[in-house]
Amino acid sequence: MTAEYTPAEGSFRGRAVGVFDAGIGGLPIARAVASCLPGVAISYLADSGRRPYGPQPGATVARYVRQAERFFAGQGVDVWVIACNTASVVAPATDERLVPCVDMVEAVGRVLPPTTAGRVALLGTTGTIVSGVIPRGYPDHDWVPIPTEALLRHAEQGDASAPAVPGLLLRLRDELDESGAKHAVLACTDYTCILPAMVDALPGIALLDPLDGAVRAVRDIIRPTATDAMTTAAPASRGHELAVTGHHPVDIPALARETYGLEFTTTVTINLDRTES
Ligand code: DGL
Repeated sequence: MTAEYTPAEGSFRGRAVGVFDAGIGGLPIARAVASCLPGVAISYLADSGRRPYGPQPGATVARYVRQAERFFAGQGVDVWVIACNTASVVAPATDERLVPCVDMVEAVGRVLPPTTAGRVALLGTTGTIVSGVIPRGYPDHDWVPIPTEALLRHAEQGDASAPAVPGLLLRLRDELDESGAKHAVLACTDYTCILPAMVDALPGIALLDPLDGAVRAVRDIIRPTATDAMTTAAPASRGHELAVTGHHPVDIPALARETYGLEFTTTVTINLDRTES
């Protein structure tokens, strides 16, 4: 389950964390990072013009991830989060990364139950499930992979009240019952946007949100240099910034402000293909 975050001691003024998703799925992570690391500026990138990533070929999504990485390198962030499981499973290997990076495969590892906990359902997009990357990364767990692409089309708009959602959740509950899994990893960041509806529909299943793991991983990277930042104690030079690549059905700045208390001071539309030239 998603944990509440208490603000960290001290300030990380002048530091910036990039958060990347195809759409709104990274907003809860951005909010959690901002609230546990006061003074950190968020640079949020939504590849809204090319979403959804779930049904697209892995090689295509891998190219988008490289472009996002170059974008964040240009932004000068201290660390960036690939707040998208579909992108994380095709991300460059750790030793090939240009900027310190947290991905959701690593984050999943931080929220897993003990291997004695029995079968663990893995919920995600087609891309995430077909890749097999998460079960291969944690081979000691007894995985039951379940793609939920139709449910995610609603989750990625934060739309738990869509008429189709109760039926899709009922079907998922049946699948989970049949599998015998008592734990389910939410391996798509968009689930967090409809988490209350999932909790209601799936009683008896422990829903494990890697959001917690992603935020802890960011803190592990940022913490060692915090003392340096505090001694210079420069005020935050910029607020939170949003970059999008095209239309998104949700008003992202309004959702960020009203649901997550995250105020973007600027919103720009960018062309990520330009990072290749
Ligand atoms: N938030 C992305 C994930 O975690 C969503 C993918 C999509 O755009 O289909 O996989």
